[in-house]
Amino acid sequence: MTDLRAAFLLGAEREFDGSSPTYALLARVIAERPELASPLLSAPEPLRRPLLLFGAVQYALRTTAAGHPLAGYYPALGGTASPGAGLVDAFTDLVKTHWDVLSGLCARRTTQTNEVRRAAQLRPAFGYAASLAGDRPLSLVELGTSAGVLLVPDLTEQETELRGPEPGYLDRDLRIGGRTGIDLAPVRPGDTEGETWLRACVWPEHTERLARLDAALATRATADITWIAGDMVDAVPGAIGAVPGDHLPVVFASNAVCYLDEPARLVQALAATGRDLVLILNEAPPAGLALLTDDPVPFDAPGVLVSAEISGGQLVRARALAGTGAHGAWLDWGPKALNPRTLPV
Ligand SMILES: C[S@@+](CC[C@H](N)C(=O)[O-])C[C@H]1O[C@@H](n2cnc3c(N)ncnc32)[C@H](O)[C@@H]1O
Repeated sequence: MTDLRAAFLLGAEREFDGSSPTYALLARVIAERPELASPLLSAPEPLRRPLLLFGAVQYALRTTAAGHPLAGYYPALGGTASPGAGLVDAFTDLVKTHWDVLSGLCARRTTQTNEVRRAAQLRPAFGYAASLAGDRPLSLVELGTSAGVLLVPDLTEQETELRGPEPGYLDRDLRIGGRTGIDLAPVRPGDTEGETWLRACVWPEHTERLARLDAALATRATADITWIAGDMVDAVPGAIGAVPGDHLPVVFASNAVCYLDEPARLVQALAATGRDLVLILNEAPPAGLALLTDDPVPFDAPGVLVSAEISGGQLVRARALAGTGAHGAWLDWGPKALNPRTLPV
């Protein structure tokens, strides 16, 4: 239980303070009383994260525990009560009375989001890919696609705060000829349980994120997406192989490569396909920029939007395009050329 104490305290200090008063209070209480997090013990050790428990609790409130008093503290569920002693009592009661449900969810689910505003962070990079494509349509292949809401940049309009100059390439039309989404647990249209889980993983005060998610889920349900359930490194060569020869494959990932134990394997797998393609990553530097170059990180930001061109089995050009804020919140545009890494042959 010692690790759970530390995980919840860290979550309160680093993630929830200033962004979710409900989770900040609950995380501090759980750090004092880790038995409240015992449903998490059914999850494999590396996945025992505060957000998995909190997602399971919200899922229960949206399903089997609908009407429980805890919902009164969750604005996402229509609650208006302020966090305080009542919140802690209600949470304690829910964990006690729905322990089996929570434990089952923690055993079979992982924290999973699909943050719509990240589409606005990716949009200039897609424009850049379009500038390289000439007459060819783009075939998008997303790694860690979740519900696929980032696969429809031509059908959705999203905004993010601009902290630097106006991003380039936004005037480039996106002609998209194919869309493939790879995920360990893809949430396809019609998967109502999966969609409820995505909603349950949104923090309770972030009601605007929830509204954006609902709208984007509806839009992506109208698109023709090829879904692949599996590990991104294993599945991506097949997905690229299925892209017609007269399309430009654009492989991209947002906050997903960071889940790989050995992210460098991804770039090797892409290069080994022998196909000319564009790679776009919006990831924390160790899971994105550092796969392409040894250059220092040129932005003071949680994420960096990078692009790379792979040709003849090598990285031929790499660029850091922008610094990016968490949850799609902001973009600091400022393209810089990077010295691309030489890949093992
Ligand atoms: C934090 S979510 C991000 C989803 C989406 N890309 C976004 O930015 O909103 C990470 C996604 O990556 C998926 N994922 C994690 N490891 C994976 C792997 N090895 N192969 C494929 N998908 C993976 C998860 O299932 C989850 O849907």
